[in-house]
Amino acid sequence: MNFYFVKSELERGSLLLLFLLGTLAVVGNISPAHAEYGDLVLNQHAEKEGMPPVIFPHWFHRIRFRCKVCHADLGFKFKAGGSGINMLKIIDGQYCGACHNGEIAWSVENCDLCHTGKDGLKTQVDGSTLSKLVVPVKDKNKKPR
Ligand code: HEC
Ligand code: HEC
Ligand code: HEC
Repeated sequence: MNFYFVKSELERGSLLLLFLLGTLAVVGNISPAHAEYGDLVLNQHAEKEGMPPVIFPHWFHRIRFRCKVCHADLGFKFKAGGSGINMLKIIDGQYCGACHNGEIAWSVENCDLCHTGKDGLKTQVDGSTLSKLVVPVKDKNKKPR
């Protein structure tokens, strides 16, 4: 068994509470995403549900973890949008939530660190850099939510 699952069991209660508290997001000194090659846009549910699309910086993660961690142990498919990820599963400690739990990486209450995409982007692999996909923080704050 891998320790992510054990950990996520323990974290489940507190993550759910954090989520229910909503966007209490105190981002602190977490820096915005860096530009990397080969980013994934995930937008099967997000925009429809009133959140900006998710930008997943694949390369950033690939240089930190073995493929197996995500594509075998955590069940991510080799296809953008292929795994049926949604927010409930993430809060439940699956997929992104296996690491973004405040232990291995910053936790799910940091909505704005994942939901960074420009409106209208489709679920896809984008060969360009994040800078073309991500809404600059300034613009984002101007937009009424
Ligand atoms: C195997 C563990 C793991 C999984 C699974 C994972 N992440 Fe991460 N992620 C990390 C770590 C570790 C960092 C670096 C955290 C830090 O710098 O404090 C990170 C950083 C990030 C960043 C910031 C990148 C930057 O340039 O600073 C984003 C955005 C992100 N993850 C999104 C996601 C999304 C979306 C998913 C699910 C599709 C996901 N992550 C799944 C471990 C993971
Ligand atoms: C931190 C987790 C993580 C790691 C590590 C990771 N991937 Fe991925 N990968 C993902 C996610 C998430 C997706 C998109 C799945 C989805 O949208 O359902 C993806 C999609 C892919 C795809 C399809 C999209 C594309 O770029 O064509 C390929 C191929 C792929 N990964 C290969 C790899 C290889 C090879 C490695 C190791 C060198 C690796 N991945 C490491 C999370 C990861
Ligand atoms: C670690 C990355 C990450 C964080 C942090 C994150 N999300 Fe998500 N979220 C995702 C991914 C991945 C999806 C599925 C993307 C798609 O639409 O294909 C998603 C989908 C959603 C959806 C669409 C409906 C659904 O159930 O999937 C909503 C609404 C949402 N997130 C709200 C939030 C809110 C509110 C927060 C902060 C409390 C948040 N998210 C934090 C990654 C994240």
